[in-house]
Amino acid sequence: MTVEQLQKMITEAKKENDVCILAHSYQTRAICEVADIVGDSFRLSVEAQKVKNRKIVMCGVHFMAETAKLLSPDKTVVIASDEAGCPMAEQFTPEQVLEFRKAHPDYAVVSYINTTAALKCVTDVCVTSSSAVEIVGRLENNNILFIPDKNLGAFVKSAYPEKNIVCWDGGCPVHGKMTAQDVLRIKQKYPEAKFLVHPECPPEVCENADYIGSTAGIIAYARKSDAQQFIIGTEISITEQLSCEMPEKQFFNLSKRLICSDMKITTLVDVYNAVCGTGGMEITFDADTAAKARHCIDEMIRLGG
Ligand code: 13P
Ligand code: SF4
Repeated sequence: MTVEQLQKMITEAKKENDVCILAHSYQTRAICEVADIVGDSFRLSVEAQKVKNRKIVMCGVHFMAETAKLLSPDKTVVIASDEAGCPMAEQFTPEQVLEFRKAHPDYAVVSYINTTAALKCVTDVCVTSSSAVEIVGRLENNNILFIPDKNLGAFVKSAYPEKNIVCWDGGCPVHGKMTAQDVLRIKQKYPEAKFLVHPECPPEVCENADYIGSTAGIIAYARKSDAQQFIIGTEISITEQLSCEMPEKQFFNLSKRLICSDMKITTLVDVYNAVCGTGGMEITFDADTAAKARHCIDEMIRLGG
């Protein structure tokens, strides 16, 4: 069977089973092609609310399927591959946060959306990489604990030097391993290129950027820009996606090491099985977790517009 034949089977099966496929932009191109909605974490969260289908199949990592279920509790939400998890989402425990809250009752707890539902239960408001700066700016409280990504936290902090933002030592193992050396090497090779970077990269990488933002922000910048060459400082799928969409422009990876193995676990066969109800894993929550975890996502959508 060819890739196209399998994609056709998925398209037919999703109609038969009343399924909407959501895919994060880091998924493979073959998966993005069969998805109904492709986007960054914030877009997927917002769209998950609007979807009319009876069932959602999430092609992404675990916290993304959890977010979709929290926002669509009456729908069946299935993650296409149950092994796909974001390692950053579990770097801290709810107990650690509760302990901090007890010792510092005057702090607001802000969590990156890349967290488990259990952590969201002890969070005041979630943020995504595209909404973090805006949402933190709208919080009345100037004392903030920001978890789990210290690099995204540092990026937010640089926008509000007047706020007291405390970050714990967490972060993305993929973006977090980029170095100033990587930037120097690629900039020497392509000195004219604009450098677009995800805020999960360390500050010494971000400080050399022409633009810092989410995957959707990076894509939008490249579309609008008159520049001809771009260095992309996020997961390597984005470079491929941009190259296919804008063949007249050139896109280079900051490093080939920027590959998220969890985002690449899902295959077209997994998607087919999840759509047909013969694979994937259904997401469920008890009522207490559903209510508490949903609150901080609702707050994100309210404050993020
Ligand atoms: P976005 O919020 O830009 O979609 O990023 C998600 C992610 O996991 C980045 O590593
Ligand atoms: Fe998690 Fe990093 Fe992979 Fe994004 S790229 S899903 S933050 S491990």
